[in-house]
Amino acid sequence: MQKSILILGACGQIGTELTYALREKYGDNTIIASDIREGNESLMDSGPFELLDATDYNALEEVVAYYEISEVYLMAAMLSATAEKFPMRAWNLNMNSLFNVLNLAKEKKIDKVFWPSSIAVFGSNTPSENTPQNTIMEPSTVYGISKQSGERWCNYYFNKYGVDVRSIRYPGLISWKTMPGGGTTDYAIEIYHKALTSKTYTCFLEKDTKLPMMFMDDAIRATLLLMESDSEDIKIRSSYNLAAMSFSPEEIADSIQSRIPDFNITYDPDFRQEIADSWPNSIDDSQARIDWGWKSEFDLEKTTAEMLDNLAK
Ligand SMILES: NC(=O)c1ccc[n+]([C@@H]2O[C@H](COP(=O)([O-])OP(=O)(O)OC[C@H]3O[C@@H](n4cnc5c(N)ncnc54)[C@H](O)[C@@H]3O)[C@@H](O)[C@H]2O)c1
Repeated sequence: MQKSILILGACGQIGTELTYALREKYGDNTIIASDIREGNESLMDSGPFELLDATDYNALEEVVAYYEISEVYLMAAMLSATAEKFPMRAWNLNMNSLFNVLNLAKEKKIDKVFWPSSIAVFGSNTPSENTPQNTIMEPSTVYGISKQSGERWCNYYFNKYGVDVRSIRYPGLISWKTMPGGGTTDYAIEIYHKALTSKTYTCFLEKDTKLPMMFMDDAIRATLLLMESDSEDIKIRSSYNLAAMSFSPEEIADSIQSRIPDFNITYDPDFRQEIADSWPNSIDDSQARIDWGWKSEFDLEKTTAEMLDNLAK
């Protein structure tokens, strides 16, 4: 039987590109996009869409039954910077949507779950260079606490109920098809837009704040690779470290200047600096490489070329 896949939060930065990639791979009509708002025109035109609140279990159950869904990708969440402004809303959305999906799988209404975690699970006591898969995790943000708790619950549902849940700790994701949704690494997207429109950008992080980052194509490829891997190869049921590159605002500015020499950056750090300071500089993703053959393809230079070329079109 052909599998049907439901994407929750499909209109966001990752969900949009994930929907395109899954539709290309499995066929437009087998991938059901859903969100609490409509997405961009090309997403809405590319296949079935449902207005669906991921925190509403009954509505979710109905859609799963109607489309005979076998896999759910849960991309709905409140991101790091926004979550600091609305702590309880973030906690309720991030946790209740996860419980809903895990419980659907526990009740055997779906077979497989993808849920993204984040480098925000780490905190200032975590070794910040080449952060290991298993290490101290004392997140200081609402978002990080929700992701760390989510990881423990995923692991619990796998061990207790045999739920096939798979997860990646995404680094900051860089993409040009949609705008970012309120995270601490959003600067690394805004900077390319500003480089093309005004040739100047004021960064909300300090120039030497190095963070783990990844181009969206790598993130989508990793997600599909993990979801297609044999279950016995998935040794980690909390969430996998994943890495591609690490850079500071000064380094991304340099890389833009190599293509736009009169681009200028200034720095005016805000509350997001404290969040960024608590996160790792770089990530050790050797477990993902060993278990399911992960390897990144985009470095900073290639990312800058892709971003500027596509945004200029
Ligand atoms: N973008 C990144 O750099 C990054 C990094 C690490 C982890 N992640 C994680 O990946 C996932 C997706 O992130 P994103 O960047 O695409 O976020 P985003 O903010 O761009 O998109 C989230 C989407 O969820 C939708 N949504 C909000 N509440 C909802 C609800 N109750 N029901 C259904 N949909 C709802 C929003 O309308 C939005 O379209 C999140 O779990 C996020 O924590 C993202």
